[in-house]
Amino acid sequence: LTVETYPNLQRGDYGTLEESDLTRFRSILGDSSVFVDDIEGYNEDQMRKYRGQSQVVLKPKTTSQVSEIVKHCNDRKLAICPQGGNTGLVGGSVPVFDEVVVSLSGMSQIRSFDETSGILKVDAGCILESTDQFLAEKGYIFPLDLGAKGSCQIGGNVATNAGGLRLLRYGSLHGSVLGIEAVLPDGTVFDSMHSLRKDNTGYDLKQLFIGSEGTLGIITGVSVLCPARPKAVNVAFLGVESYEAVQDTFSKAKRELSEILSAFEFMDRESQVVNKKFLKAPHPLAEGSDEIPEYPFYILIETSGSNKEHDDAKLEQFLETSMEDGTILDGTVSQDEAQTRTLWAWREGISEASQIEGGVYKYDVSLPLSKLYDLVIAARERLREANLIGETDEYPVVDPVGYGHVGDGNLHLNVCVRRYTKEVEKVLEPFIYEWISQHHGSISAEHGLGFQKKNYVHYSKSDVEIAMMKDLKRHYDPNGILNPYKYI
Ligand code: FAD
Ligand code: MLT
Ligand code: ZN
Repeated sequence: LTVETYPNLQRGDYGTLEESDLTRFRSILGDSSVFVDDIEGYNEDQMRKYRGQSQVVLKPKTTSQVSEIVKHCNDRKLAICPQGGNTGLVGGSVPVFDEVVVSLSGMSQIRSFDETSGILKVDAGCILESTDQFLAEKGYIFPLDLGAKGSCQIGGNVATNAGGLRLLRYGSLHGSVLGIEAVLPDGTVFDSMHSLRKDNTGYDLKQLFIGSEGTLGIITGVSVLCPARPKAVNVAFLGVESYEAVQDTFSKAKRELSEILSAFEFMDRESQVVNKKFLKAPHPLAEGSDEIPEYPFYILIETSGSNKEHDDAKLEQFLETSMEDGTILDGTVSQDEAQTRTLWAWREGISEASQIEGGVYKYDVSLPLSKLYDLVIAARERLREANLIGETDEYPVVDPVGYGHVGDGNLHLNVCVRRYTKEVEKVLEPFIYEWISQHHGSISAEHGLGFQKKNYVHYSKSDVEIAMMKDLKRHYDPNGILNPYKYI
């Protein structure tokens, strides 16, 4: 496995870390929050694809500490890489050269929770899963869930505008985030920690930070509207014979499950093959055998509501009629919480499983639903033509797999590889981005731009949009210290 290095990239005109900077950081944070040894984990992303050379990791505990650090870095023109749980998938969360890593992991307090309105205020470094557990005790749920919940932070979720598994039900963070506190590149604290659902008093500035991937400010606090936790949850795992059947099942689920539908995910068979290697468990539809059934596509449907009997009856009828008319060929429904988790693992596990042979090239795209799977077919054909796919070690590519959030028109195309090579990358890029642009899609549905896609934004945004993005960045960060070499 080789790690991406950047021989053709020039370091920006930034200051270089000196002993006096460390002294200043220690005076702001105390010795125990300034790390210079054993910091490899902060320099490398979780796919082991991107690696930086930062010399220092800072872990502030308060917003004013973040502000002082950023002000010092701006005065000294030291570049910064803000880091949350480092679960990002586009190389945005790790330094490229020697940027100072500002990790939010020391800021993990729940600030307040209003049990009537469901409005939660947290430090940006709160882990998603622990925050959701806190809410569960109060009868509420965090309006975002994703496979990396055990490590990712709320600040990182907001900075990437993460979509996740239930966007279909709870909408995007652009809707549920009510307020943000962030430190601007000159150290100014932007305090907009509101708890108002309605506020039409001028530009909605907090939106700028949602999805800004650490380029406009370091998010230190988030105020978010949380829905009531559903009392009844059902998960069905289904096998179907074609991508058309996936679409038909989705249309029918929207009509017939309507208000209780909370997730609709699809997976191709290839994704189940890699996931089986990873999970080392029998497939949910295998019925006692160790094989994966031959269905080319699988669907996970989740329903969430307040009345178990009602939801059970609705789902049962939906499944019965879909099996009768032949749209669904096979299926199983979870009987308890443990089984619900097992079924979800056959969907959530694909992300990590895709790296099992060495690495993965990831494409996270929005496309019209009818075209979603055509991209996987096109990528597979192109790699075959280039003679890069094969079962033995001489071929770099194992297989592309396709899965994703059907309800959001979001495909994940993972090209599973034995090693990262420029040859594979050149065959896939810009081919995939051109294909997406021709089909009026987006080159990033939810993972963001980061380092991976910074040169390809024009496939999804017009010249005018890109110019406005650059103007904003220049205005708020004239020295370009926040997360350089990424985004635009
Ligand atoms: P990091 O990875 O640390 O950072 C991500 C970006 O945000 C970087 O650019 C970083 O500089 C910036 N950043 C982080 N914290 C802050 C902050 N406080 N202020 C300013 N900038 C900051 N994404 C989805 O959208 N949907 C999914 O379903 C999904 N599932 C995933 C499943 C797995 C197994 C994995 C590994 C990742 C998944 N992701 C998914 C990717 C997703 O982007 C992240 O998991 C998550 O949102 C990032 O949070 P983090 O705290 O790890 O941020
Ligand atoms: C997912 O939907 O599983 C996530 O976006 C993560 C991934 O695709 O790797
Ligand atoms: Zn996803």
